[in-house]
Amino acid sequence: MSDGQKSFDAIVIGAGAAGLFCAAQAGQRGVKVLLVDHNERIAEKIRISGGGRANFTNRDLDVRAPQRHFIGDNPHFCRSALSRYAPQQFIDMVQRHGIAYHEKHKGQLFCDGSSQQIIDMLLAECRAGGVEHWQPCSVGAIGWSDGGGYRVETPRGAVRAPQLVIATGGLSIPQIGASDFGYRMAEQFGLRVVTPRPALVPLTFGGEGWAPYAGLAGLSLPVQIETGSKKERMHFLEDLLFTHRGLSGPAVLQISTYWRPGAPLTIDFAPGTDVAEALGEAKRQSRKRIANELAALVPSRLADAWAGEDAALQRPINEAADRALAALAERIARWQITPSGTEGYKKAEVTAGGVDTRDLSSQTMESKQPGLYFIGEVVDVTGWLGGYNFQWAWASAHACAEAL
Ligand code: FDA
Repeated sequence: MSDGQKSFDAIVIGAGAAGLFCAAQAGQRGVKVLLVDHNERIAEKIRISGGGRANFTNRDLDVRAPQRHFIGDNPHFCRSALSRYAPQQFIDMVQRHGIAYHEKHKGQLFCDGSSQQIIDMLLAECRAGGVEHWQPCSVGAIGWSDGGGYRVETPRGAVRAPQLVIATGGLSIPQIGASDFGYRMAEQFGLRVVTPRPALVPLTFGGEGWAPYAGLAGLSLPVQIETGSKKERMHFLEDLLFTHRGLSGPAVLQISTYWRPGAPLTIDFAPGTDVAEALGEAKRQSRKRIANELAALVPSRLADAWAGEDAALQRPINEAADRALAALAERIARWQITPSGTEGYKKAEVTAGGVDTRDLSSQTMESKQPGLYFIGEVVDVTGWLGGYNFQWAWASAHACAEAL
């Protein structure tokens, strides 16, 4: 090196899921890799994921149509990488490392032990690839090296490489190292960024309208939840959880990725039941209070919250007007409510939006700026809850590593 800078074939910035996997794969292909992360602790998001057991992939991902479980301005962008690196390939690696796992729900695979096993596995793979790893090490200015390629300033001196991989993730959970570095890098090199927003996030509700439900915190029940226009309607059949400030649980986290401010949600609290029919039958057969009949259809705490709001529900059901029962059925099966906002990046599992896929190659993740790659969550590809985001991290990292 004539200018005294240490030089590598590739520098990967961000040692999270995507960065670790990319560095390991590239290193094992003979690429001389430097992996840099500004955080004190390694792969914090993997550590806290899946309640400490890392839901590391999802067996239900259909490699022929993987885009079904992902959202982004171009939903088809993720297809190439995800179809070339299937969940089974990651599962094979987990098995090779002797990590025991189990399937929990809808194809979601979790470690039997702890998420630390996935981190240890990735670190072992990096060692096998001879990856040089600097952490904690902040990254300063990035520019051009006199000797060619990229020049990256760090407190340990400037380093250079012809290829630079940005794997710094999204904005979620800033307290464990998230930063907007990736978006700033994209902008520095003239790439477009789809405005980031919190996703897989609890939704909040405010004002007097929410008051009757605030007391339901802790109540969980299966629902069908929907949002979006007629053309782009999205729905999930999952559990919903009432919280002190609003709604959470898998149903709400999933729909939050598709929810846009100001749009209502429609919730069916008795999915699979013909509520109008059930109330009509009760009217013919029963003399109980409407509120009591309601409790046969939804949990009694929710029935009580509704009944408390409405004096008409205190009457015997056989005296109720058909119109009133129809309105009640509509309320149970098609409850419309508009969130006031989200819990934000502090509670969001992921960040939707990110580096615009129009400026990236879906084959290699290389940007329009030659030698500059973006992988993982920093890209405008967001997966469903359930291991899909890790699978995107592995698959995009793999596509990039093959090209380095
Ligand atoms: P990731 O965030 O993993 O890594 C980015 C790295 O870049 C970090 O190490 C960070 O320190 C570093 N970095 C940031 N800025 C930098 C800078 N300026 N300079 C140097 N380094 C910088 N997904 C899933 O599939 N299954 C699951 O079970 C869960 N569970 C889950 C729980 C919780 C609480 C959260 C917050 C998230 C999840 N996820 C998940 C989502 C998943 O964790 C996430 O999508 C991936 O970790 C994204 O991988 P990346 O490598 O892209 O970013």
